[in-house]
Formats: sequence, structure tokens, C-alpha cells
Amino acid sequence: MFPTSETSLRAAVILGLLAASPQGFAISTLKVPLKSTIAPKMANLFNASAPLTNAALKVVATVQAGDNQTFSDVLVDTGSAILWVGGQQKYIPGADTRVINETFSVGYGAGGVNGTAYLDRVTVGEATVSSQIIGSAGYMEGFSLVEPIDGIIGLGPSGSNYGEVSGHNTTRTFVENLVAEGTISHPVFGIYVSPLSESGIPEGTGEITFGGVDQSRISGDITWLPQNDPVDFHWEFNASSFSWGDKVLATGPIYSRTDTGVLPIAVPYDAFFAILDDVPGASLDESSAIAGSITLPANVTVDSLPAMEIGIGNLNFTIPASKYIVPTSLHTTLNITDNLVHTWIMSGGPGAFDLGQKFLENAYSAYDMENHLVGFAYLA
Ligand SMILES: *[C@@H]1O[C@H](CO)[C@@H](O)[C@H](O)[C@H]1NC(C)=O
Ligand SMILES: *[C@@H]1O[C@H](CO)[C@@H](O)[C@H](O)[C@H]1NC(C)=O
Ligand SMILES: *[C@@H]1O[C@H](CO)[C@@H](O)[C@H](O)[C@H]1NC(C)=O
Ligand SMILES: *[C@@H]1O[C@H](CO)[C@@H](O)[C@H](O)[C@H]1NC(C)=O
Ligand SMILES: *[C@@H]1O[C@H](CO)[C@@H](O)[C@H](O)[C@H]1NC(C)=O
Ligand SMILES: *[C@@H]1O[C@H](CO)[C@@H](O)[C@H](O)[C@H]1NC(C)=O
Ligand SMILES: *[C@@H]1O[C@H](CO)[C@@H](O)[C@H](O)[C@H]1NC(C)=O
Ligand SMILES: *[C@@H]1O[C@H](CO)[C@@H](O)[C@H](O)[C@H]1NC(C)=O
Ligand SMILES: *[C@@H]1O[C@H](CO)[C@@H](O)[C@H](O)[C@H]1NC(C)=O
Repeated sequence: MFPTSETSLRAAVILGLLAASPQGFAISTLKVPLKSTIAPKMANLFNASAPLTNAALKVVATVQAGDNQTFSDVLVDTGSAILWVGGQQKYIPGADTRVINETFSVGYGAGGVNGTAYLDRVTVGEATVSSQIIGSAGYMEGFSLVEPIDGIIGLGPSGSNYGEVSGHNTTRTFVENLVAEGTISHPVFGIYVSPLSESGIPEGTGEITFGGVDQSRISGDITWLPQNDPVDFHWEFNASSFSWGDKVLATGPIYSRTDTGVLPIAVPYDAFFAILDDVPGASLDESSAIAGSITLPANVTVDSLPAMEIGIGNLNFTIPASKYIVPTSLHTTLNITDNLVHTWIMSGGPGAFDLGQKFLENAYSAYDMENHLVGFAYLA
């Protein structure tokens, strides 16, 4: 397909250049110092930034594959590690598709999917992999909260998709293939999730950067933390503190994971109950689509509520009430029928955080598959 927009045209020119260059050109030119950020000059040479759209309840990207098909609602999920499409528009094998006679099957918290697996040329934003395992959805269940979705692109750690494609123990993720094909030098990527405004309308477009982090999105340096064992499971690490206003409710190490594929900010169990105790009239949501979250009485105001503070390494991310309260514009979508003040705060289990989309809107996160590190920075 001929590129039409300026961005894809530029990507095509850049990729063409790389392909035409002597072997090693891409590697030597695109060398990215580890635990660091792409130098601005290098970023201009290859900017594999895929736009991320925060569609209120999900983080999605556009994926091109199959018979010149564009799947525009592909959920970006750091909590899984396989790529599949065909949730709405059926996947049709194209000129670059290789039939491999395998099936895929994967279960998520929100649903499950299975179908036929192919090898295909796949483009996500400006990044292209010429031989990627891609699932074509045949059977789907669940996903009601995130529907409609075209598919899921899993950005989980290497080896975390065990048993999901027949004939293989594990398969390479999109990021690993970018490295294997020499497009980026290191299996590193950074994610900026654009925040929602209080009325629930997305304020901008987020971004994944493959091969490094986007310096223009961050303020200060990335703080890198070692990934918790096992490194082939989830992007897990230890956070160091959790505060509710001036009350420190938990101190480290707090077992934590990031997950762009889930919404809530799930805080350690004891801290969750301390918040319930702290706000008179606070209770548990028992019936909406975010059942299990904290609801506050209708008489609270944003100004009367404390901010939450999540300490990670030497950084403290402050999440004001305006960011942890569910905008009333989303109540109908979330099946909220009462007039209480609903929050995105859930329990992460004993001593654990599960930092979903509503946390990630307040932080830049980065992932290093080679050195098994998870990084964070303040937003620019
Ligand atoms: C897809 O693109 C290829 C190459 O540009 C072209 O040959 C083919 O006809 C296109 N297929 C469809 C269905 O448009
Ligand atoms: C990458 O490209 C996008 C859009 O083309 C641009 O807005 C962004 O600033 C670029 N990022 C870098 C790091 O050059
Ligand atoms: C495809 O796989 C099935 C099940 O493993 C096998 O029975 C069949 O012979 C295979 N077909 C081809 C063309 O390889
Ligand atoms: C997909 O799941 C359905 C329901 O469990 C099952 O009937 C079907 O055989 C599965 N298909 C594949 C290809 O695994
Ligand atoms: C899959 O893993 C099992 C056990 O770890 C091993 O025996 C087998 O050879 C592996 N298969 C492939 C295709 O790598
Ligand atoms: C995280 O904390 C636990 C103790 O709760 C510790 O066993 C583990 O080694 C820590 N992880 C890292 C990567 O330091
Ligand atoms: C708000 O309402 C709750 C329960 O309805 C009550 O316990 C609390 O005292 C009220 N707070 C204020 C400041 O009026
Ligand atoms: C919606 O909420 C009602 C009660 O308010 C509950 O009975 C129903 O099961 C909920 N539906 C979903 C899909 O969550
Ligand atoms: C982060 O907050 C915790 C708890 O309030 C505090 O102990 C720690 O010093 C703070 N760290 C930084 C770098 O501000």
C-alpha cells in the first residue's frame, strides 16, 4: 500500500534507507546507550513512535497487517505478550502472509480469544516487522468493557506468552522482532498514556517509542528498577511507598506491576481499607463495571479529598483527587446508577500495587527486556 500521510511517507523513506544501507548501518547508527534515552539526533534518524489513543476506557494503537488492512482499535497491553487482530474486521491473509498451520489461544482477565496463527508483515505506527506471529481471531468472549476492539498487541516481557501458539513454547513479541530484524538495537520501549480531562474526553495522543524513550515526554531522568523474578511473567518491580494525603499507608518493598490493559489503580490491601476508614461514608462499589472500587459519599468535593502519592525509586507520583475520581460522563458506560462519587481505587492484594491506565496517565513508563528493568519518569 502506498503511504499517504506525511508520517508514513517519512517512515517509508527511513525504512527504505535502512534496507538499502550496508549491513550494520542500522545498528551502529541507532545504538542507544542502555538505561538512557535516545539522543535527539538519533531520534530524528529513526522515530519508531506509534501513536496511542486513549479512548476513555482503553489504550489503543493502529496496526496494519493482512491484505492491506488497518486495524485501528488494537488494545495496547503490557500485561500480555501476543499480537492478534480480527475482533471486528475479519483478518484476511495478504501478499505477505505466510500460512503456518498453527492456532493460538489466550485468556485474559477480561476475556479470551482463539483462532488461526499466521506469520505476517505487521506495521504499528512507524515500526514494521516483516515476519511476526499474528493471531486471527476466530472465537472471542468477554471484553465487554473494552469493546469494540480489533485486537490486542502484547508488550509483555520476553517468554511470557508460553503455550499460546501451537507448535511453539513461546513466540517473539513485536518488540523482540524489531530487534531480531535489526530495526532497533535494544528491546526497550517507552509509553506515554495521554490523560483524560475531568469530563472524560481524551486530552491528547499518547505514544509508544520502540528502541528507547521519548525524551520530549519526560522531565528529569528515567529511574530504572530491577524487574522482580520471574522476569518472563509480568513487568513487576518493587515500589517504595504509598501515601494518602499526609498519611503514609505503606512502605517498601511493595510488589508492583504496570498494566496498560487494565483501568484501576490497585493499592495494597491494608492501605485500601485505611482509605475506606479515613473518609466517612466511604464504601465498596458492588454493582457497576468497576465493582470492588472505593465509592465516596455524594457530599465529598474534589478539593476536600487528599492526593495519593506513589513512591517508586527516588520518584513520588502525586495523583490528585481529580485524577482518581471517575468522571460522571463515564458513569453510564460503567453501569453506575447511583449518585455517589466513584473512584478508580481498588485493592491490589496484600502488599501489592497493580498500576493500570489511571496511574500511567500520570507517569512515563519504560521497559527494558534485555536487562530486565522497569523505568519511570515524571511527565514533561
Ligand atoms: C494490496 O497492496 C498490494 C501492493 O500495493 C496490491 O498489489 C494489492 O492489490 C492490494 N490488495 C488490495 C485488496 O487492495
Ligand atoms: C516522532 O514523530 C512524531 C510525529 O511524527 C513527532 O511528533 C515526535 O516529536 C517525534 N519524536 C521524536 C523523539 O523525534
Ligand atoms: C496442519 O496441522 C494439523 C494438526 O496438527 C495436521 O493434522 C495437518 O496435517 C497439518 N496440515 C498441513 C498442511 O501441514
Ligand atoms: C476456541 O474456543 C472455543 C470455545 O472454547 C472452542 O470451541 C474452539 O475449538 C476453540 N478453537 C481453537 C482454534 O482453539
Ligand atoms: C518446549 O519446552 C519443553 C519443556 O520445557 C521442551 O521439552 C521442548 O523441546 C520445547 N519445544 C520447543 C518447540 O521448543
Ligand atoms: C522485591 O522485594 C522482595 C521482598 O518483598 C524481595 O524478595 C525481592 O528480591 C525484591 N525484588 C528486587 C528486584 O529487588
Ligand atoms: C458525608 O456523608 C457521609 C455519609 O452520608 C457522612 O458520614 C459524612 O459525615 C458526611 N460528611 C460531611 C462533611 O458532611
Ligand atoms: C449493572 O448494575 C446493576 C445494578 O446497579 C447490576 O444488577 C447489573 O448486573 C450490572 N450490569 C453489569 C453489566 O455490570
Ligand atoms: C516520597 O514520599 C515518601 C512518603 O511520603 C517519603 O518518605 C519520601 O521521602 C518521598 N521521596 C521523595 C524522593 O520525595
